[in-house]
Amino acid sequence: MSVFRADVLKGRVALVTGGGTGICKGIARNFSQYGANVVITSRKLENLEKAAEEIEAAGGKCVPVQADVRKPEEVERAVAVALERFGKLDTVVNGAAGNFLCPASQLSYNAFRTVMEIDTIGTFNVTKAAFEALSKAGAEGQDPLVLNITATLHYVGTPLQAHVMAAKAGIDALMKNLAVEWGPLGIRVNNIAPGPIGDTEGMMRLAPGDLAQKMAANIPLRRFGTIQEIADMAVFLASPAARYISGAIMIVDGAQWLATQPFEM
Ligand code: HXC
Ligand code: NAP
Repeated sequence: MSVFRADVLKGRVALVTGGGTGICKGIARNFSQYGANVVITSRKLENLEKAAEEIEAAGGKCVPVQADVRKPEEVERAVAVALERFGKLDTVVNGAAGNFLCPASQLSYNAFRTVMEIDTIGTFNVTKAAFEALSKAGAEGQDPLVLNITATLHYVGTPLQAHVMAAKAGIDALMKNLAVEWGPLGIRVNNIAPGPIGDTEGMMRLAPGDLAQKMAANIPLRRFGTIQEIADMAVFLASPAARYISGAIMIVDGAQWLATQPFEM
């Protein structure tokens, strides 16, 4: 049973990076279900087309656009498509990310740079490309929103994640700056920091096989989160219920990071 009014996001137009798979596909689907039109982007067109078909089959409007967040011209094109197809853009979800387990001493220069470029610089690229459209939406009182998907890894010293910790911490810092600089334009900027979420590429990479069960047993709520739980937080933040929430990090992790055990090397 839905906890939100069926048309709570009616009139919104959202660009969701990484929207062809996993958590961000869930966010795009949920946005659409509650009335938003969505543009989804990533590198693999086949994933995007499949996700868009699913969303349209459920009665929504979804346009897939191939775009690498590291390439400003591709991102600008995605923004242009949103404006052409839907006449406006008032919501940006920065979910595109890369991750793998690797000790800092073994990371190549390019490996570190690659994750910084996808997560942190990619978030900047997309947000900057959308700035004019977001400002216009702000001037028209449409409550524009930038929503970044981060993590809780960098709240502690998570081993094998130097690249991702640095990248997500950079997004937290960027969010704080933009919430202050763009607040006067009516633009809200927030982050969702998920804990371990089941049935995702992220957890497949970070906790393969038996490790997942062991990890879940150490989470105070004793389970992984679901894609739907993150997608519902995204709908809440895009809804009028969150009109005064900006500069916030919404942690959705079952209290996992607070209970992080000292690492055994
Ligand atoms: C060490 C690695 C590596 C690995 C790649 N590299 N995988 N180094 N261990 N497992 C190195 C490569 O050798 C190369 O360096 C550099 O990283 C770039 O690799 P490419 O394959 O050329 O990069 P690219 O094609 O751009 O792909 C990016 C990627 C890839 C991040 C490496 O895995 C990807 O596309 N990921 C997207 C999907 C994803 O990661 N989803 C999970 C998000 S979950 P050299 O020096 O050899 O050139 C998430 C969870 C957060 O973020 C928190 C959870 C709790
Ligand atoms: P996912 O399905 O792999 O999502 C990552 C997405 O990013 C993919 O759709 C991928 O699509 C896209 N992407 C990667 N590089 C890109 C690039 N250069 N340009 C454009 N798009 C790119 O993994 P997920 O687990 O659902 O993660 C989604 C988000 O949640 C990420 O920000 C992740 O850090 C965060 N998160 C996840 C968890 C978890 O438990 N899963 C926990 C905390 C935070 P293409 O390959 O088609 O480009």
